[in-house]
Amino acid sequence: MNPVHPLRPDALSQGVRQGVCDFADNRVARLLGIRYPILQGGMAWVADARLAAAVSNAGGLGILAGGSMTADLARDQVQRVRDLTDRPFGLNIMLMSPHAADLARMAAEERVPVVTTGAGQPGKYFPAWKAAGIIVIPVVPSVALARRVEQQGADAVIVEGTEAGGHIGDLTTLVLTPAVSDALSIPVIAAGGIADGRGVAAAFLLGAEGVQVGTRFLASEECPIHENYKRLVVKARDTGTVVTGRSTGHPVRSLKNRLTRRFLDLEREGVGFEALETLAVGSLRRAVQDGDLENGSFMAGQSAVLVKAVEPCRTIIESMFRDAARILDRSGAYLLGGGCRFPDMEGGRP
Ligand SMILES: Cc1cc2nc3c(=O)[nH]c(=O)nc-3n(C[C@H](O)[C@H](O)[C@H](O)COP(=O)(O)O)c2cc1C
Repeated sequence: MNPVHPLRPDALSQGVRQGVCDFADNRVARLLGIRYPILQGGMAWVADARLAAAVSNAGGLGILAGGSMTADLARDQVQRVRDLTDRPFGLNIMLMSPHAADLARMAAEERVPVVTTGAGQPGKYFPAWKAAGIIVIPVVPSVALARRVEQQGADAVIVEGTEAGGHIGDLTTLVLTPAVSDALSIPVIAAGGIADGRGVAAAFLLGAEGVQVGTRFLASEECPIHENYKRLVVKARDTGTVVTGRSTGHPVRSLKNRLTRRFLDLEREGVGFEALETLAVGSLRRAVQDGDLENGSFMAGQSAVLVKAVEPCRTIIESMFRDAARILDRSGAYLLGGGCRFPDMEGGRP
């Protein structure tokens, strides 16, 4: 059970009175040495040194996506981030990547400050990473896996709800965040569906002490994706995303287009894994680099509907935390005043 309620209304109220978002006492910010407890999700083919450095320079934690890279390519990107920022940054390793073991070794050799992992159990890499002084934060889809990685020595966990873009699990952020917060002592970082200050505030009220955001950063000026991709994210509607690949056991959320329609048709027809794989191979790269509207896989989360414009990473982060602090400050007044009361409750206020 998390020993401390993560919401610190006293610290937040003071920070807001001073006109700054003061998350100084936040465990995630302290652990990572950053100003705002926000991680930019590692996004395969998307999150390069330029995006990661922009997020880190703006006070968050930028994360390089190892998912689409060989270890040599990733080492080069690590060097580039170090050229662009002296702030902490991370490397995301997708454990199902054929390069996962090489990337894990490279991360230890380069003493990358933070490693996040996706799609599996990172336990066997912990000794080498810990020996290199790396902060390890696995992405987990369930309470059981969260408990296991905490026992293995994880410093925090990212819980990712099914609202997120890319590869997803079943549970929602709304349920997963408090369920894992109740079960662990290490900090919980919420991901999936968080794209503005309301989402940050909600995550904190659910027990998270930090957030990871992917979709909103797709529409950042520093994000290296094709303009078509950014345009699709900004104009997406609430029903604009769809999940493909449920029949294969590897569900992926992306923006609806010809490719997702074709994929779902084939899944309904019950074609085999190979036919679906042929359609999927290279499709994220086609979206990111070519802006191929018909055959690209424009992975994005449900929160695309909340993204209204392409903005610099600094504007995104500062506005999210300014708004979150205002909301939490108001909630804090309730908490400090002895809790929320509703008119029909005994002793309640109208
Ligand atoms: C285009 C795209 C690619 C992604 N690739 C990865 C990846 O390689 N590894 C990973 O752990 N998560 C990946 N994710 C998930 C993000 O890191 C992040 O957790 C997620 O986007 C958060 O939810 P949101 O999209 O609602 O902000 C990806 C997400 C997107 C949108």
